[in-house]
Amino acid sequence: MRHHIRFYLGQTLHEVSDLSPTHTVLDWLRDQKGLTGTKEGCNEGDCGACTVMVVRLENGQLTWRSVNACIQFLWMLDGAQLFTVEHLQNPDGSLHPVQQAMVDLHGSQCGFCTPGFVMSMVAYVQNGGGDDPKAINTALAGNLCRCTGYAPIIRAMQQARR
Ligand code: FES
Ligand code: FES
Repeated sequence: MRHHIRFYLGQTLHEVSDLSPTHTVLDWLRDQKGLTGTKEGCNEGDCGACTVMVVRLENGQLTWRSVNACIQFLWMLDGAQLFTVEHLQNPDGSLHPVQQAMVDLHGSQCGFCTPGFVMSMVAYVQNGGGDDPKAINTALAGNLCRCTGYAPIIRAMQQARR
């Protein structure tokens, strides 16, 4: 485990020292950064409410991964760039195309799962994921919606891909 790490949160470089090995990304975001768009649901890696996106340079290529912040330890971010739902809005205030598609196609009901879904969807788009509903289902399999509005979410994913 690294005791001193550097990573980007959005476009801002962060250096963190004296790390606890069990300090999670979710707790750090919510308690220390006040970024409460990342939700705490199960807190054990099952529901996807806490999904964030981690970008790394691997073999000369950028990879975008959606990860569960509740089971990702802060020290694991060393050398990476972390994005939360707060980082998606465009500078002019307009929504990210994935967020706009969720609005247009009514992909959100109570909204608790929505930030997590959106981050998984953005990672899918960034990685060049296709239009196939089965591939989309697989990409979103780690996100649960208690309101069970899966069909409009899949349609929103397909629209955002276009
Ligand atoms: Fe459920 Fe993280 S809070 S997967
Ligand atoms: Fe309510 Fe998904 S919209 S949990």
